[in-house]
Amino acid sequence: MGERWQAVDDYIAARLLGDDDALATILANNAGQGLPPIDVSAAQGKMLFLLAQMAGARRILEIGTLGGYSTIWLARALPDDGALVTLELEAYHARVAQENLESAGVSAKVDIGTGPAADSLAAMTDEAPFDFVFIDADKQSNSHYVAEAIRLGRPGTTIIVDNVVREGGVLEANSDDDRIVGTRALFDMLSANPRLDATAIQTVGAKGWDGFVLARMR
Ligand code: SAH
Ligand code: DHB
Ligand code: MG
Repeated sequence: MGERWQAVDDYIAARLLGDDDALATILANNAGQGLPPIDVSAAQGKMLFLLAQMAGARRILEIGTLGGYSTIWLARALPDDGALVTLELEAYHARVAQENLESAGVSAKVDIGTGPAADSLAAMTDEAPFDFVFIDADKQSNSHYVAEAIRLGRPGTTIIVDNVVREGGVLEANSDDDRIVGTRALFDMLSANPRLDATAIQTVGAKGWDGFVLARMR
């Protein structure tokens, strides 16, 4: 089915997303500089853009920048005086992302924090409260990142977590894959958390079978 999922994503992109030279250039730059092609898909990027706009987001937090592809979609949703903080472990990824944000014309709204996201988050207060949080980094840390998003959020803050289904891997209760263990810990913390209303939506498409958590702070 994978080919057909890709073909439908191509159809959606052709009808609804238009030609986006800035984003195509960035994906080519990422590939040229050796970054892995694990950005969100174009359709998912536009969904993030729409959700951030629906939330009226003025301050956005992203955890996991890579080359800044999802960052650019989110930054485009911000008003002129909006701000986005994106956290990235790898200095090399952050450098490529900075170039990409400049070429897309959104760098004035974005600050990249380099280093382990947990450290950057622990040091953060001035930038909060965030209206919208997109979590897409090391899956082991997902429940910690959601706890930090809650600390740095406010009633109504939207929280999205990418890659929570992984071809059904989330069902493997005895997995020795830290990413699966982390994702299951995320579902456990969500199921018990009185600060959040949450769901998870499975997806198929250019990125295979996966899914995301969508949550809103009470
Ligand atoms: N959101 C991006 C894709 C992110 S890929 C997009 O859709 O375009 C995941 C990124 O998280 C990688 O760049 C990886 O280096 C980064 N990462 C991994 N562990 C991290 C950590 N502990 N802190 C911050 N970033 C981390
Ligand atoms: C992969 C995909 C992602 O969206 C991500 O954030 C990390 C890894 C992957 O396909 O391996
Ligand atoms: Mg992801």
